[in-house]
Amino acid sequence: MTKLLKNAQKTLLNNRRSGYTLPTNNKLYPAQWNWDSAFIALGYSHFNLNFALEEINTLLKGQWKDGMIPHILFHDKNTKYFPNHTVWNCGNKIASSGITQPPIIVSVLRQILEGNKISKKQKGRVKEIVKKLKKYIEWFIKFRDPKKNGLISILHPWESGYDNSSIWDDPMSKVKVEKNLKYKRGDIKVVNPEQRPLKTDYDRYVTIKNHLKANKYNPTKLYKISKFNVIDIGFNSIFLRALKDLIILLKRYNISYSNLKKFSKKSEKQLTKLYDSKKDIFYAYDVKNKKKIIVPSITNFFILYADIKNNLLNKKIIKSLKKYNKGKKYIFSSIKPDHKSFEEKRYWRGPIWINCNWIIYQGLKNKDKIFSSYVKKKTIGLVNKKGFHEYYSCKSGNAMGAYNFSWSAALYLDLVLNKN
Ligand code: DGY
Repeated sequence: MTKLLKNAQKTLLNNRRSGYTLPTNNKLYPAQWNWDSAFIALGYSHFNLNFALEEINTLLKGQWKDGMIPHILFHDKNTKYFPNHTVWNCGNKIASSGITQPPIIVSVLRQILEGNKISKKQKGRVKEIVKKLKKYIEWFIKFRDPKKNGLISILHPWESGYDNSSIWDDPMSKVKVEKNLKYKRGDIKVVNPEQRPLKTDYDRYVTIKNHLKANKYNPTKLYKISKFNVIDIGFNSIFLRALKDLIILLKRYNISYSNLKKFSKKSEKQLTKLYDSKKDIFYAYDVKNKKKIIVPSITNFFILYADIKNNLLNKKIIKSLKKYNKGKKYIFSSIKPDHKSFEEKRYWRGPIWINCNWIIYQGLKNKDKIFSSYVKKKTIGLVNKKGFHEYYSCKSGNAMGAYNFSWSAALYLDLVLNKN
C-alpha cells in the first residue's frame, strides 16, 4: 500500500468520533454532515466495512419521524459552529439542522454492498438501513414535489451542499434580509475569509433558516411559502440516481417499490426537459420566482450520474464537458472559468472539489472509458500532489479551505482502489 493510501485511512480514523466522522479536524465543521458521511462510509468500506455501516447507521439515528435525514447532526454540543444546535432548535433524539442534503447515501450504500462480502449478521442490519432510506426518498417525493411533477425542490442553498454556488445568485438576490439580524460566524476565524461565502450570503442563509424555524420546519407549509425554492440539476441528478439504486436494493431485499418506479420514469423525462439544446446547457428552475437559472456549473454535469437512457443526449453532454475546462492543467472548476461569477478561491464559485470529480467520474465510466480514465487520473494526480484538502484552485492546484478533509481522503481511496 502506498504512503498516501495509508494517510488517507489515517485521515479518516483521526477524524472519527464515536460512530461517526467529522468532515475535518480543523474545527470548521465539528459535527456529522449528511453527504460527507456517505462519501466517508465509502472510504471506510475499502478497509473497515463495520466502520462504513456504523457511519451510515449513526446518520440514520438522526432521521426525523417523517423520514427526513438532516444535513447536520450535532452529536457534540460543545462547539463554536454557527448555526449550532440551539440556533436550529430541532431534531428527534439527536439535535440537528432542519434541512437536508443530496441523498447520495443511497447510491453509496449500493456501491458498498456490491464491492464487499456481507455477513449474515450484517445483512439484517443492511435491510433495516434500506427501509430507512426508502422512507427518506419517499419524504422527498411527498414534501418536495407535492404536485408530483417529477422534480424535487430544495428550500435552502445549504441543501444542495454547494452553498454559495453562483446558481443561487439570482434567487438569493430576491431574499430580503431580516431586520436586526444578529449572529456570529465561526468559519471565518478558521479559514481565510477570501475562501468562504460573503456576509451578504450568510445574511440570507440565516434569514431563510429563521423563516424555516419560525414555521416549525413544517414541510407541507414550507414548500409553498419558503423564501427559496429551486429545482436544481445536480441535486435532481443525485436524487434520480438514488431512486434507481434504491429500487435495485428494494428488489434485492424483497421490499415493495412499485410507486417509486413510476416516479423514477417521470423524473427522468422531466429532468431531460431542462436541457436547452440551443445553449447546450442544463438550466435550474427557480420555482419561487418562476424563472430559469442558466449558470455553467460543474454540478449540471451530475446528469451523467443519473444514467439517463438517452445516448444522444449523453454524447452531447460529454462533448460539452470536454470543453468545460479544455486545456486547463487542473479539473474540474466548480464554475466555468470564463463565467462572470467565477472566483478562483471562493468556496463553490470556482475551486475544484474532489466529490464533484468523483460524481462525474462515476457518471462517465460506463459512457466514455477514455475520458473517464482521464478524469480519474487528473483527480488522483491533484491529490497526490496537494494532499487531502477541502478544495483546490483550478489555476494553480493550490489547496484551500479545511485540511485533513475526510471526503477527499475517502474518495481518493475509492478512486485508487475501486477497480470497477
Ligand atoms: C458550512 O458551514 O459552510 C456548511 O457548508 C453548511 O452546511
